[in-house]
Amino acid sequence: GAQPVPPPINDTSSKLVFDDAHPFQPDAPGDIRGPCPGLNTLASHGYINRSGVVTPGEIITAVQEGFNMGWDLATFVTYGAFVVDGNHLTNLMSIGQKTTETGPDAPAPAIIGGLNTHGAFEGDASTTRDDFALGSNFLFNETLFDQLSQAAIDFGSNGTLDIPSAAVHRHNRILDSIARNPNFTFVTPRYLTAYAETTFPLAFFVTNQTSDTSLTLGLDVARSFFQTHKFPDNFYRRNGSYGLAEVGDLVVEVFEPFPVLPGNNEGVGNYVVDPEDPGLVGDGTCYAYYRQSNLTVALYPDPTDELRAAIAQNLANFYSGLGDPTCEQVFPFGQ
Ligand code: HEM
Ligand code: MG
Repeated sequence: GAQPVPPPINDTSSKLVFDDAHPFQPDAPGDIRGPCPGLNTLASHGYINRSGVVTPGEIITAVQEGFNMGWDLATFVTYGAFVVDGNHLTNLMSIGQKTTETGPDAPAPAIIGGLNTHGAFEGDASTTRDDFALGSNFLFNETLFDQLSQAAIDFGSNGTLDIPSAAVHRHNRILDSIARNPNFTFVTPRYLTAYAETTFPLAFFVTNQTSDTSLTLGLDVARSFFQTHKFPDNFYRRNGSYGLAEVGDLVVEVFEPFPVLPGNNEGVGNYVVDPEDPGLVGDGTCYAYYRQSNLTVALYPDPTDELRAAIAQNLANFYSGLGDPTCEQVFPFGQ
């Protein structure tokens, strides 16, 4: 069943993480990979189970160990996904496609579909993966990577990716979805994760990154993570953890040059803003917590006592990732 969140790691200094204990192994038959290059890489190096079927606690410890992601951000993102994509009774989740390896399913409308599940946590306008309506929402797409590379060449720092050039690609991905995807949906939580995923390569994929993001990302290193799911040789995790507050500041830098508000397409080319969605203005993380809590209620309308208790624990774990929020905790499955 559900477990408490593992604690923060103690030592957050930079260190070699592509070490002898964590060799790269290409996927074996049956191993699952998905839309997240960070988690795929951790699986390919054994920081989480190489099968790609993992517990939320494993993910939270591994993203701290391997990348120095802050405990609050790790907990918030992991449980934001787990409550809608994972199996509450077995405490297992697929980092990609739906699989029987996560154990017996709860009855529909529960999905328990893993991170590939479109519209639960995964969403549109991804960095190097297609929109669900237009192609694969989890496989690496060379055309999109070439567009990311072109943004770095045209607007980055000496042919490397930096925040301003990553912001250009973020905006281009949104414009592309508006232009081509009749189902384009860009509301919280996906709205927030879209901006966050744009900052992650600069925060986490740069070897020995310093306290801020003063270093930039080479395109070969970017490809190693996005496509091969492999740490580059001699990869050191960033120095110092990087959590909700730090990523929040970077997200603002990505948003400000091209401020698109949350919304969705009503027909190709017709993007309509959702005035209810706070996006990045106000406490968007609280809104994301409420949205995911409500979606969980919709997926589990009539839970058994055992399921009810597990979901209650996992929603409490999710809330704990908010740190010291201004929003109230909700208890739709009891306390
Ligand atoms: C994308 C899950 C941590 C880097 C995604 C996506 C999911 C996901 C579901 C797909 C979203 C979309 O594009 O539609 C998670 C979970 C994490 C986590 C549950 C647990 C903490 C990380 C970490 C990194 C990372 C630590 C970096 C080291 C990225 C990047 C993308 C992404 C760069 C964009 C992928 C692309 O479209 O090219 N993540 N992630 N994630 N994630 Fe993660
Ligand atoms: Mg996506």
